[in-house]
Amino acid sequence: MTARTPLIAGNWKMHKTVAEAEEFIQALLPRVSTADHADVAICPPFTALTPMVDSTRGSRVQVYAQTMHQAESGAFTGEVSAAMLAELDVHGVILGHSERRELFGETDRALALKVPAALAAGLAPILCVGETEAEREAGDTERKLRHQVQEGLSKVPVERVADVAIAYEPIWAIGTGRVAEPEQAQEAAAFIRALIAGRSPEQSERSRILYGGSVKPENAPELLALPDVDGALVGGASLDPEAFAAIVAAAA
Ligand code: PGA
Repeated sequence: MTARTPLIAGNWKMHKTVAEAEEFIQALLPRVSTADHADVAICPPFTALTPMVDSTRGSRVQVYAQTMHQAESGAFTGEVSAAMLAELDVHGVILGHSERRELFGETDRALALKVPAALAAGLAPILCVGETEAEREAGDTERKLRHQVQEGLSKVPVERVADVAIAYEPIWAIGTGRVAEPEQAQEAAAFIRALIAGRSPEQSERSRILYGGSVKPENAPELLALPDVDGALVGGASLDPEAFAAIVAAAA
């Protein structure tokens, strides 16, 4: 089995001005400077990307964007392309967050183009997948995950599949304080790894599968110890440098 370096990514969503982001990063950097057991990433709004790339240079903190468009350029008001992000020295990009899907109409069909477009531009994608509460109760979790993972990876060349991190984020656990039970998180992560193995068993051993949804310093150790969970996508708790650093430490 291949050792996978855990990835702890903080999704700030629409939080933090540049001034607030600077204050955060100055507090975070000393707290994670010795955390060489994990990859650490922050995902600020577009406006704070360049300041955060500059402020993290030479540190172990990577900077990811929260979304992008699949086209190289065009009449898409308000959108940014993969090349525009790569030009800023952004390390990667979150794709398919449930808030993008639900509130901004992002589709699996668009994501099937976004994931390879990100890779082609040199960005590391984090593809988010997850079921609603109604889907879980109806026994539809695996069907939903299968569809989202297979669509999202459908146009990714097989030798690049493991360069896509998959974040399993049950929608009912996002921002609700209702974290998934460890068995639920492990079961879903193992199922996603098996789906990837359908493309390539070798790639599936190297793929990083994250859990997201109400991750906090208190529940992180248990979640991050699960055999198929290789990190966390953290929302609310990533806004506080101390809480976020504690989650990074829990990945050790
Ligand atoms: P949360 O958000 O940690 O606040 O639940 C997670 C996410 O949306 O990625």
